[in-house]
Amino acid sequence: MNILILGSGGREHAFAWKLSQSKKLNKLFIAPGNAGTSGCGTNVPIAVTDFEAIKKFVIDNTINMVVVGPEDPLVKGIHDYFLADEQLRNISVIGPEKEGAQLEGSKDFSKQFMMRHGIPTARYETFTKDTLNKGLKFLETLQPPYVLKADGLAAGKGVVIPNTLEEAQKELNEMLANAKFGNASAKVVIEEFLKGIELSVFVLTDGNSYKILPAAKDYKRIGEGDTGLNTGGMGAVSPVPFADAAFIKKVEERIIIPTINGLKQEGIIYKGFIFIGLMNVNGNPYVIEYNVRMGDPETEVVIPRIKSDLLDLFEGVANGNLNEKSFELDDRFATTVMLVAGGYPEEYKKGDIITGLETVKDSIVFHAGTAQLPTPNSQPQIATNGGRVIAITSYGNTMEEALRKSFTNAEIIQYQGKYYRGDIGKDLKSYFSLS
Ligand code: AMP
Ligand code: GLY
Repeated sequence: MNILILGSGGREHAFAWKLSQSKKLNKLFIAPGNAGTSGCGTNVPIAVTDFEAIKKFVIDNTINMVVVGPEDPLVKGIHDYFLADEQLRNISVIGPEKEGAQLEGSKDFSKQFMMRHGIPTARYETFTKDTLNKGLKFLETLQPPYVLKADGLAAGKGVVIPNTLEEAQKELNEMLANAKFGNASAKVVIEEFLKGIELSVFVLTDGNSYKILPAAKDYKRIGEGDTGLNTGGMGAVSPVPFADAAFIKKVEERIIIPTINGLKQEGIIYKGFIFIGLMNVNGNPYVIEYNVRMGDPETEVVIPRIKSDLLDLFEGVANGNLNEKSFELDDRFATTVMLVAGGYPEEYKKGDIITGLETVKDSIVFHAGTAQLPTPNSQPQIATNGGRVIAITSYGNTMEEALRKSFTNAEIIQYQGKYYRGDIGKDLKSYFSLS
């Protein structure tokens, strides 16, 4: 099989790392990829939403399967584009069609979907510019903090959680009347604040059967103790100690099965990942959000815990026989610590040389924002090329053991302005106090 992965982050490096271990793989390409993915396959300089360039590349290189990493091409309809094209129709795409991608592309769509199928989620209402005054009044009926969500994709910035009514009303006004997030905030979902502890559950589905992948917890804020600005994610751990078998069973019965059945009932063909962001409220799961792709950096701990051949599983997704595929997990813990550029998630520098990569022991280095510098006469040099630079993943029989390895290597890898959170997993330690 010849495969093209779309994307350029740690998630795509983790996919590339895993797929390159498959006996079924012939050639692997990553568009556009990063300095890490070029060690698993060939990078091609094509943007993930340049469908015409992707089409040409897929045909010229007899690609059999396209694995879509980020949400953007899915929400823009890359799968539909393939199905509508005579030459592309028979090429498998891992990722839902446009309609299914609305689960992430529109918060209002996903809330309505959950309501239709009795899936537990926070109480909510949706407002537009025309109903702004109703929205301001609705806020008065809620208790702080207030949760306001831009309906459309807003580069991970569309959720705002103000603490006071005054701030919440100002924010709603900004989003609806002043188009704070452009067209993405033409509609705003206001919902009840759920108090609990967050985690993510990942599902791979062919539209009928499904595999529940390992659950993970990520660390979203830039500062230790989960303070400061939101980021794409600063680290992750899997498994999640408070998500025991009984909790996952509740997730399966109350959320996963109704989601898959709901999609089927509505005639939405869904082949790909469903990332379910959950709040554990006193032992009961509530959906915070759906994403139609894997998480980043969650993928960097979830994929290493899958022992089975990922390409074989993807074939099951494409051919509709996922239920026949073997699915074995690694019982060990996996942790990842994200090294980021100084200043991230605000302004940061690119182009700083990264050293120490070759001395890393006992961890897997997944590149995120890195690039290989053109140095024809010497050893290739790798430089920072994004806010999130490198994810350091480690295995351990305990979470502590895995974290120790990731933190040791976080000190070995060097570049100017390097920053990482030293408290990844710390909040979970109390769950192990009896063991
Ligand atoms: P997102 O930007 O969509 O990943 O979501 C941002 C974050 O907002 C989530 O990870 C949660 O921490 C938080 N959040 C979203 N909805 C709620 C809610 N209803 N109650 C409490 N926290 C929420
Ligand atoms: N780490 C969160 C996300 O990928 O959306």
